[in-house]
Amino acid sequence: MQTFSPIREKLNPQIAAKKIFSLIKAEMALVEAEFERQASSNIQVINYLGDYLRASGGKRVRPALLLLSNYAVGGNASRENVVRLATVMEMLHTATLVHDDIIDNADMRRSRESVNAKFGNQSAVLMGDWLYMSAFETSLKERSLEILDILTRLTRKMTEGELIQLTMLGRSGITEQDYFDILKRKTAYLFSACCELGALLGNASPEQQKGLRDYGMNLGIAFQLADDSLDFTAEEEILGKAAGADLLEGKLTFPLILLLKKEPKIKAHLEKIMYDGNYENVSREMILELMEKHGTLLETRQRAYEYAERSRKNLEFLPKTEYCEALSEIPTYMIERNK
Ligand code: IPE
Ligand code: IPE
Ligand code: MG
Ligand code: MG
Repeated sequence: MQTFSPIREKLNPQIAAKKIFSLIKAEMALVEAEFERQASSNIQVINYLGDYLRASGGKRVRPALLLLSNYAVGGNASRENVVRLATVMEMLHTATLVHDDIIDNADMRRSRESVNAKFGNQSAVLMGDWLYMSAFETSLKERSLEILDILTRLTRKMTEGELIQLTMLGRSGITEQDYFDILKRKTAYLFSACCELGALLGNASPEQQKGLRDYGMNLGIAFQLADDSLDFTAEEEILGKAAGADLLEGKLTFPLILLLKKEPKIKAHLEKIMYDGNYENVSREMILELMEKHGTLLETRQRAYEYAERSRKNLEFLPKTEYCEALSEIPTYMIERNK
């Protein structure tokens, strides 16, 4: 497999994450406690599924972004409110994962069986709905129409992203523009909303709020480009979810969109894999070798770094604090992570 030494910055993703998260360690512990409270119910089955989901972990990137954005604008909101809204964002994210795994027919998530694989699609649909609604209910405690506005628009956009993606499944004609449109909706708007809400709660100036909204958007794009690359390069045991699955699910992601431009005759092969849902008739190695030959994973990584650079520029209106510094380090961690 290809190595990316030319643009690899000296960064160990685990150490970088530790450093970034150490700034908000206490708040992240409160987010866990709040999540536990919010995902509990006197209905036994909801408690059970909520525990299963919560205990499976996850990187908790989205609540961390909300907290750091809030502190980066000198956040003067009460810690309780900020932690509560950070938890709402992780709950929304969890709901999208539960639904996404049904849609993608994925068996594994965070190194354990996905909810749909373990408890069936019916329970997974309802648990996803329950998490969405609980998240909204909790967000209403802020009594802010501005916050509700951001959250409803966001949820609509995420659903649109998954729906548009469905209409593109199995299609080799997907363009770069289609790809980025889907990616923004399904992933980047959530990052953007986390950062914007952190700013909003901290009474940021309009420039700062917009800067953080744009920062989250560019960061989210870099994050999903990395996710789509990891699907080709990562090991399943580390990733905690199936690798090599996107193409089998009928999704032509950026590295393959680039490959199709450079090697158009591969089209029928890619279509065959997407149609079959396996590599029995076309070898995965052949596709990987062609990607290596044309450097399409390297180009994808370069594109992710371009968005990372843009996101760092969006921080120019923030005072130079350790929180701002953490935000400026996150994009590289997102791209260099191995899970
Ligand atoms: C997974 O997000 C969904 C994508 C947008 C690719 P994460 O990679 O943040 O998932 P967890 O929360 O760490 O499991
Ligand atoms: C990521 O889509 C966006 C959401 C989960 C909403 P993917 O389908 O690429 O996410 P993973 O790879 O299953 O985590
Ligand atoms: Mg998926
Ligand atoms: Mg993916």
